[in-house]
Amino acid sequence: MRVGIIGGGQLARMLALAGYPLGLEFTVLDPAQDACASVLCEHICAPYDDPNALSQLAEKCDVITYEFENVSLEALEVLAETTAIRPPLTALAKSRDRLKEKTLFQELEIPTPRFLAIDSHQDLETAPKILGWPFVLKTRQFGYDGKGQHVIHHRKDMEDAWNSLQGQPLIAESFIPFQREVSIIGVRNAHGQIIFYPLSENVHKNGILHTSRCRLGDSQTRPAEVLATRLLDRLDYVGVLALELFEINGRLLANEMAPRVHNSGHWTIEGAETSQFENHLRAILDLPLGTTEAVKHTAMVNFISVLPEPTDVLELPGVHLHTYGKTERPGRKVGHATIRAADNKILDIRLHHLLALLP
Ligand SMILES: Nc1ncnc2c1ncn2[C@@H]1O[C@H](COP(=O)(O)OP(=O)(O)O)[C@@H](O)[C@H]1O
Ligand SMILES: [Mg+2]
Repeated sequence: MRVGIIGGGQLARMLALAGYPLGLEFTVLDPAQDACASVLCEHICAPYDDPNALSQLAEKCDVITYEFENVSLEALEVLAETTAIRPPLTALAKSRDRLKEKTLFQELEIPTPRFLAIDSHQDLETAPKILGWPFVLKTRQFGYDGKGQHVIHHRKDMEDAWNSLQGQPLIAESFIPFQREVSIIGVRNAHGQIIFYPLSENVHKNGILHTSRCRLGDSQTRPAEVLATRLLDRLDYVGVLALELFEINGRLLANEMAPRVHNSGHWTIEGAETSQFENHLRAILDLPLGTTEAVKHTAMVNFISVLPEPTDVLELPGVHLHTYGKTERPGRKVGHATIRAADNKILDIRLHHLLALLP
């Protein structure tokens, strides 16, 4: 069977790496000549919304999935008339617009930070009155890795943010002084079966995921699963979905969801019985889902902008290095490492050594 992936970045690459042992083949659609999945997959080099390229992809593949949300919905809706696209496009339509996404959360009684649509300078003026200071101004679409968002502490920030973001549909949210960020990653198949990975605890730096740590037996696991289940069922979802949450004073507030494999689930490659990548493929191909249980205590560190010296990383016990074959560039995710240990104390020490290798 052949899987088509819209986007040929590191997520597509890791999907392919998980799929080859199952006998699957892959075609990616990506406009970049050097898309990092292209060394592993057949590559259609064309814009994401190129109708010819999309129908070529559909002809070749048994199912189409996507590795990022900024895909043209209109183009995919045409394709969906004749080809299986999973996860369903309703999930994509919600997740690619922060306002629609948060409105869906609200409908499903999934708590979120307070938010309001910002369509004019006048709306922006009312934001601090409703949300208080500080608040966060974000573009509704196309944001990732903290791009297109500003934390606004005072009037001057507000004008600066307006100058840089005006003209795009925006959303303002209250700033949450959370104790921690977590994510729950679930997988649902076409028969409605849902299983979850253990909770990930995530640390972001400058809006980009820095580390994720699998937290076995965390007391927020069940509450997070309850919230994510509402989404998975409402969307009649098939595939892997991640829900990012803030924890504040024992409560969970949903930040955003991703209808795809997620960076905070990279630890599952070596840390779980079945990785998120394999389970995503199993779900979209209607194969039995694999056990999501953790095999050890695991953490993941992202390599952003530059890769540490591979020899230094590989010297550490319990480490697994992933390089994405991407050119180093400021703010770009170029690889990650997963580190495992039999208990949390040893994991702390190993993680400390791994983090010491970062610039
Ligand atoms: N309302 C908020 N309050 C506090 N921190 C926030 C808020 N929104 C975003 N952040 C911080 O910025 C990070 C990136 O924001 P997010 O909305 O997840 O956008 P992206 O699509 O770029 O991941 C979050 O993981 C969190 O650390
Ligand atoms: Mg996020």
